[in-house]
Amino acid sequence: MIKIIQGDITTLAVDAIVNAANQMMLGGGGVDGAIHRAAGPELYKACLKVPEVRPGVRCPTGEARITPGFRLPAKFVIHTVGPVYRDGLHGEPEKLAACYRNALALAAENGCKSIAFPCISTGVYGYPIEDAAKIAVREVKNFLTQRRRDAECAEEMEVIFCCFSARDAVVYRQLTL
Ligand code: APR
Repeated sequence: MIKIIQGDITTLAVDAIVNAANQMMLGGGGVDGAIHRAAGPELYKACLKVPEVRPGVRCPTGEARITPGFRLPAKFVIHTVGPVYRDGLHGEPEKLAACYRNALALAAENGCKSIAFPCISTGVYGYPIEDAAKIAVREVKNFLTQRRRDAECAEEMEVIFCCFSARDAVVYRQLTL
């Protein structure tokens, strides 16, 4: 089931919140900064332990990594790295779609029944909210449909789009009417 809310993702008592991180995975501004502040210093230490796949890269763009949530009300933080938007013609849509698919897969693998996403890449990384929201909603709908087919009994995962601004929430609501 998909829900759209406007608010601060660090306050949500869901199984997993998704962080719009960067490839270093050691914090930053925006929602990354808010999540690290709310989770406390243990999150930074947990991120440090995530192995680098190449110098300075713990989570390549489009992939996802999971850590505990520590002081957050959420059990887990799923860190994913969205694409930096250039013009939409350099693989950005595919990379952004991969963020949602990989975060959802990681949540399912860890038995999460609820997950909240921020609007990945639409802040510092400059992705236009309308285009990004279309990709986000499409990928989540595909995931939920596939999950219903795969395991009849599996309780449906609750997916929340947590928009920081009212404007973003309107964009998402128009897509999920
Ligand atoms: N709760 C929910 N959403 C939030 C919060 C919050 N507390 N704070 C910011 N946001 C929203 C922003 O308004 C934006 O809509 O998260 C969305 C993503 O914006 P950014 O956080 O800037 O993330 P992104 O565009 O993916 O850029 C990632 O920014 O913070 C750095 O380390 C991060 O380098 C990485 C880059």
